[in-house]
Amino acid sequence: MRTKIVAGNWKMNKLPSEAAALIDGIKDLVKDVQGVEVVVCPPFTDLKDAAAAVKGSNVALGAQNVAWAESGAFTGEISAGMLKDLGVEYVIIGHSERRQYFGETDETVNRRLKAALAAGLKPIVCVGEKLEEREAGQMPAVIEKQVKEGFADLSPEELAKIVIAYEPVWAIGTGKTATPKEAQEVHALIRRLLAEIANAEVATSVRIQYGGSMKPANAKELMDQPDIDGGLIGGAALKADSFADIVKAGV
Ligand code: 13P
Repeated sequence: MRTKIVAGNWKMNKLPSEAAALIDGIKDLVKDVQGVEVVVCPPFTDLKDAAAAVKGSNVALGAQNVAWAESGAFTGEISAGMLKDLGVEYVIIGHSERRQYFGETDETVNRRLKAALAAGLKPIVCVGEKLEEREAGQMPAVIEKQVKEGFADLSPEELAKIVIAYEPVWAIGTGKTATPKEAQEVHALIRRLLAEIANAEVATSVRIQYGGSMKPANAKELMDQPDIDGGLIGGAALKADSFADIVKAGV
Protein backbone atom coordinates (compact mmCIF):
# COMPACT_ATOMS: atom_id res chain seq x y z
CA MET A 1 0.00 0.00 0.00
CA ARG A 2 1.23 3.45 -0.91
CA THR A 3 1.02 6.19 1.75
CA LYS A 4 -0.71 9.23 0.31
CA ILE A 5 1.30 12.44 0.16
CA VAL A 6 -0.17 15.93 -0.02
CA ALA A 7 2.30 18.76 -0.65
CA GLY A 8 1.72 22.50 -0.76
CA ASN A 9 3.65 24.33 -3.47
CA TRP A 10 3.58 27.92 -2.27
CA LYS A 11 5.25 29.09 -5.52
CA MET A 12 6.42 32.73 -5.17
CA ASN A 13 4.08 33.55 -2.30
CA LYS A 14 4.49 34.37 1.40
CA LEU A 15 7.18 36.58 2.89
CA PRO A 16 9.73 35.07 5.25
CA SER A 17 7.90 36.86 8.06
CA GLU A 18 4.63 35.15 7.04
CA ALA A 19 5.81 31.56 6.69
CA ALA A 20 5.75 30.47 10.33
CA ALA A 21 2.18 31.68 10.88
CA LEU A 22 0.86 29.67 7.92
CA ILE A 23 2.79 26.58 9.03
CA ASP A 24 1.55 26.97 12.62
CA GLY A 25 -2.02 27.04 11.31
CA ILE A 26 -1.46 23.95 9.15
CA LYS A 27 0.30 22.05 11.96
CA ASP A 28 -2.56 22.64 14.32
CA LEU A 29 -5.19 21.44 11.83
CA VAL A 30 -3.34 18.30 10.68
CA LYS A 31 -1.75 17.21 13.97
CA ASP A 32 -4.09 14.22 14.37
CA VAL A 33 -3.95 13.15 10.72
CA GLN A 34 -2.56 9.68 10.21
CA GLY A 35 -1.82 7.82 7.01
CA VAL A 36 -1.17 10.91 4.86
CA GLU A 37 2.24 12.51 4.56
CA VAL A 38 2.05 16.32 4.67
CA VAL A 39 4.68 18.54 3.03
CA VAL A 40 5.00 22.31 2.64
CA CYS A 41 7.25 23.79 -0.07
CA PRO A 42 7.81 27.52 0.60
CA PRO A 43 10.16 29.81 -1.36
CA PHE A 44 13.89 29.48 -0.57
CA THR A 45 13.86 32.68 1.51
CA ASP A 46 11.24 31.19 3.88
CA LEU A 47 12.98 27.86 4.43
CA LYS A 48 14.96 28.73 7.54
CA ASP A 49 11.92 29.95 9.45
CA ALA A 50 9.82 27.16 7.98
CA ALA A 51 12.33 24.55 9.18
CA ALA A 52 12.02 25.89 12.73
CA ALA A 53 8.22 25.97 12.44
CA VAL A 54 7.82 22.34 11.28
CA LYS A 55 10.21 20.92 13.89
CA GLY A 56 8.63 18.18 15.98
CA SER A 57 5.44 18.11 13.87
CA ASN A 58 4.01 15.76 11.25
CA VAL A 59 4.63 18.37 8.54
CA ALA A 60 7.73 17.88 6.38
CA LEU A 61 9.61 20.59 4.53
CA GLY A 62 10.31 20.82 0.81
CA ALA A 63 11.95 23.31 -1.57
CA GLN A 64 10.82 24.27 -5.08
CA ASN A 65 14.01 23.70 -7.06
CA VAL A 66 17.60 22.54 -6.67
CA ALA A 67 20.84 23.10 -8.58
CA TRP A 68 22.46 20.21 -10.46
CA ALA A 69 25.93 21.16 -9.24
CA GLU A 70 27.20 20.66 -5.71
CA SER A 71 28.82 24.10 -5.40
CA GLY A 72 30.75 26.67 -7.38
CA ALA A 73 30.16 29.44 -9.89
CA PHE A 74 26.40 29.13 -10.39
CA THR A 75 25.08 32.57 -9.46
CA GLY A 76 21.54 32.50 -8.17
CA GLU A 77 21.38 28.74 -7.65
CA ILE A 78 20.80 26.78 -4.43
CA SER A 79 22.48 23.39 -3.96
CA ALA A 80 21.07 20.18 -2.53
CA GLY A 81 23.63 20.36 0.28
CA MET A 82 22.41 23.83 1.25
CA LEU A 83 18.84 22.55 1.41
CA LYS A 84 19.82 19.48 3.44
CA ASP A 85 21.74 21.69 5.86
CA LEU A 86 18.55 23.68 6.51
CA GLY A 87 16.54 20.53 7.28
CA VAL A 88 14.78 20.30 3.92
CA GLU A 89 13.56 16.79 3.08
CA TYR A 90 11.73 17.09 -0.27
CA VAL A 91 12.34 19.10 -3.43
CA ILE A 92 10.05 19.85 -6.36
CA ILE A 93 11.83 19.42 -9.69
CA GLY A 94 10.63 20.30 -13.20
CA HIS A 95 7.49 22.22 -12.34
CA SER A 96 5.75 23.39 -15.51
CA GLU A 97 6.29 27.02 -14.52
CA ARG A 98 10.04 26.39 -14.52
CA ARG A 99 9.74 24.61 -17.87
CA GLN A 100 7.65 27.48 -19.27
CA TYR A 101 9.47 30.55 -17.91
CA PHE A 102 12.97 29.44 -16.91
CA GLY A 103 14.18 27.14 -19.64
CA GLU A 104 13.82 23.89 -17.72
CA THR A 105 14.10 20.86 -20.01
CA ASP A 106 13.91 17.11 -19.48
CA GLU A 107 17.71 17.13 -19.53
CA THR A 108 18.03 19.72 -16.74
CA VAL A 109 15.28 17.92 -14.80
CA ASN A 110 17.38 14.77 -15.05
CA ARG A 111 20.52 16.56 -13.83
CA ARG A 112 18.71 18.19 -10.90
CA LEU A 113 17.09 14.86 -10.04
CA LYS A 114 20.45 13.10 -9.86
CA ALA A 115 21.87 15.86 -7.63
CA ALA A 116 18.85 15.65 -5.31
CA LEU A 117 19.08 11.86 -5.03
CA ALA A 118 22.83 11.96 -4.45
CA ALA A 119 22.31 14.34 -1.53
CA GLY A 120 19.49 12.29 -0.03
CA LEU A 121 16.70 14.74 -0.86
CA LYS A 122 13.36 13.21 -1.85
CA PRO A 123 12.41 14.53 -5.30
CA ILE A 124 8.87 15.41 -6.38
CA VAL A 125 9.19 15.44 -10.17
CA CYS A 126 6.46 17.18 -12.16
CA VAL A 127 5.21 16.09 -15.58
CA GLY A 128 2.20 17.20 -17.57
CA GLU A 129 0.96 18.15 -21.00
CA LYS A 130 -0.20 21.54 -22.29
CA LEU A 131 -3.74 22.09 -23.55
CA GLU A 132 -2.74 22.18 -27.23
CA GLU A 133 -0.83 18.93 -26.79
CA ARG A 134 -3.86 17.23 -25.23
CA GLU A 135 -6.15 18.56 -27.95
CA ALA A 136 -3.76 17.31 -30.64
CA GLY A 137 -3.81 13.81 -29.10
CA GLN A 138 -0.17 14.12 -28.03
CA MET A 139 -0.64 13.66 -24.27
CA PRO A 140 0.72 10.08 -24.14
CA ALA A 141 3.81 10.97 -26.19
CA VAL A 142 4.52 14.09 -24.12
CA ILE A 143 4.25 12.19 -20.84
CA GLU A 144 6.39 9.35 -22.18
CA LYS A 145 9.15 11.75 -23.24
CA GLN A 146 9.10 13.61 -19.92
CA VAL A 147 9.27 10.36 -17.94
CA LYS A 148 11.88 8.59 -20.09
CA GLU A 149 14.20 11.60 -20.54
CA GLY A 150 13.62 13.12 -17.10
CA PHE A 151 14.32 9.78 -15.41
CA ALA A 152 17.13 8.65 -17.73
CA ASP A 153 20.05 6.62 -16.32
CA LEU A 154 18.47 6.01 -12.92
CA SER A 155 18.52 2.61 -11.24
CA PRO A 156 15.28 0.99 -10.05
CA GLU A 157 16.45 1.72 -6.47
CA GLU A 158 16.76 5.42 -7.30
CA LEU A 159 13.46 5.51 -9.16
CA ALA A 160 11.76 3.97 -6.14
CA LYS A 161 12.67 7.06 -4.10
CA ILE A 162 10.91 9.52 -6.40
CA VAL A 163 7.47 11.03 -6.00
CA ILE A 164 5.88 12.03 -9.32
CA ALA A 165 3.35 14.82 -9.71
CA TYR A 166 1.08 14.70 -12.75
CA GLU A 167 0.13 18.31 -13.37
CA PRO A 168 -1.73 18.97 -16.63
CA VAL A 169 -0.62 22.50 -17.50
CA TRP A 170 -4.16 23.47 -18.53
CA ALA A 171 -5.38 22.74 -15.00
CA ILE A 172 -2.78 24.78 -13.11
CA GLY A 173 -4.16 27.96 -11.60
CA THR A 174 -7.08 27.90 -14.02
CA GLY A 175 -9.79 26.50 -11.74
CA LYS A 176 -10.24 23.80 -14.40
CA THR A 177 -9.44 20.45 -12.78
CA ALA A 178 -8.86 17.24 -14.71
CA THR A 179 -11.76 14.90 -14.08
CA PRO A 180 -10.90 11.93 -11.87
CA LYS A 181 -11.18 9.74 -14.98
CA GLU A 182 -8.85 11.94 -17.04
CA ALA A 183 -6.29 12.09 -14.24
CA GLN A 184 -6.50 8.36 -13.48
CA GLU A 185 -5.82 7.54 -17.14
CA VAL A 186 -2.53 9.48 -17.08
CA HIS A 187 -1.50 8.14 -13.66
CA ALA A 188 -1.98 4.60 -14.97
CA LEU A 189 0.08 5.48 -18.04
CA ILE A 190 2.91 6.81 -15.83
CA ARG A 191 2.84 3.57 -13.84
CA ARG A 192 3.10 1.53 -17.07
CA LEU A 193 6.10 3.66 -18.10
CA LEU A 194 7.74 3.03 -14.70
CA ALA A 195 7.29 -0.70 -15.20
CA GLU A 196 9.03 -0.33 -18.57
CA ILE A 197 12.01 1.72 -17.37
CA ALA A 198 12.37 0.00 -13.97
CA ASN A 199 10.21 -2.95 -12.95
CA ALA A 200 6.76 -3.89 -11.69
CA GLU A 201 7.72 -3.40 -8.06
CA VAL A 202 8.86 0.20 -8.64
CA ALA A 203 5.77 0.88 -10.73
CA THR A 204 3.55 -0.31 -7.88
CA SER A 205 5.39 1.49 -5.09
CA VAL A 206 6.06 4.97 -6.52
CA ARG A 207 3.59 7.59 -5.40
CA ILE A 208 1.97 9.73 -8.08
CA GLN A 209 0.31 12.96 -7.02
CA TYR A 210 -2.22 14.91 -9.01
CA GLY A 211 -1.81 18.69 -9.26
CA GLY A 212 -3.87 21.39 -10.95
CA SER A 213 -6.71 23.28 -9.23
CA MET A 214 -7.07 20.63 -6.55
CA LYS A 215 -9.25 21.97 -3.75
CA PRO A 216 -11.28 20.65 -0.81
CA ALA A 217 -14.34 20.18 -3.05
CA ASN A 218 -12.63 17.85 -5.57
CA ALA A 219 -9.74 16.35 -3.59
CA LYS A 220 -11.48 13.25 -2.34
CA GLU A 221 -12.84 12.03 -5.67
CA LEU A 222 -9.42 12.54 -7.24
CA MET A 223 -7.53 10.77 -4.46
CA ASP A 224 -10.08 7.94 -4.44
CA GLN A 225 -8.81 6.90 -7.89
CA PRO A 226 -6.68 3.76 -7.74
CA ASP A 227 -3.48 5.35 -9.07
CA ILE A 228 -3.75 8.83 -7.48
CA ASP A 229 -1.69 8.93 -4.30
CA GLY A 230 -2.11 12.50 -3.16
CA GLY A 231 -1.88 16.04 -4.43
CA LEU A 232 0.49 18.87 -5.24
CA ILE A 233 -1.46 21.94 -4.28
CA GLY A 234 -0.88 25.54 -5.40
CA GLY A 235 -3.48 28.18 -4.60
CA ALA A 236 -5.38 26.14 -2.01
CA ALA A 237 -2.14 25.53 -0.08
CA LEU A 238 -1.83 29.21 0.85
CA LYS A 239 -4.58 29.00 3.46
CA ALA A 240 -4.25 26.63 6.40
CA ASP A 241 -7.88 25.53 6.41
CA SER A 242 -8.20 24.69 2.70
CA PHE A 243 -4.84 22.90 2.68
CA ALA A 244 -5.73 20.91 5.80
CA ASP A 245 -9.10 19.98 4.32
CA ILE A 246 -7.34 18.55 1.26
CA VAL A 247 -4.96 16.60 3.51
CA LYS A 248 -7.93 15.16 5.41
CA ALA A 249 -9.62 14.20 2.13
CA GLY A 250 -6.70 11.83 1.59
CA VAL A 251 -7.24 9.92 4.85
P1 13P B 1 -2.97 25.26 -8.45
O1 13P B 1 -3.39 24.33 -7.34
O2 13P B 1 -2.95 26.70 -8.03
O3 13P B 1 -3.72 25.01 -9.72
O4 13P B 1 -1.42 24.92 -8.77
C1 13P B 1 -1.06 23.60 -8.95
C2 13P B 1 0.41 23.52 -9.01
O5 13P B 1 1.03 24.00 -9.94
C3 13P B 1 1.11 22.87 -7.88
O6 13P B 1 2.44 22.67 -8.17
